[in-house]
Amino acid sequence: MKTEDPRIGRVRALAAAYHAPDGLLPLLHDVQAAFGHIDDIFVPAIAEALNLSRAEVHGVITFYHDFRRVPAGRHVVRLCRAEACQARGARAIEAAAVERLGVAMGATRADGAVTLEPVYCLGMCATGPNALVDGVPVSRIDGARLDRLAAEILA
Ligand code: FES
Repeated sequence: MKTEDPRIGRVRALAAAYHAPDGLLPLLHDVQAAFGHIDDIFVPAIAEALNLSRAEVHGVITFYHDFRRVPAGRHVVRLCRAEACQARGARAIEAAAVERLGVAMGATRADGAVTLEPVYCLGMCATGPNALVDGVPVSRIDGARLDRLAAEILA
């Protein structure tokens, strides 16, 4: 007999506080806060608890960029791709970040050191190109600043 992943019991316990349909988003945030991501194996338990289909739960998880289906790296760099930052050179910064961090956009390095992902406006448009590095805003990113960030992250 296959043993159930013990994390699923925790997911069920978290789900007990919510009801569909309004409870799905807050529950997903709770699950991600508890585990750092929403593993695909949690989906059946979430669907069952809220009386939703697995497809509905999966659809919401994949629709919102903030939900992770796999664990993030030890550091998370979120580069702004929205218009004002694009006008200030974000595209070149993104290309340089991919090269210096050694990871594709939207991916995590094989050694787990860093996840690089896009974000669409951080509300600091006048000081772009902008990023969030482990949740801390970083503005006016240029090559030199990017080099320093990459050195710290990969140290
Ligand atoms: S466009 Fe990048 S912070 Fe607004």
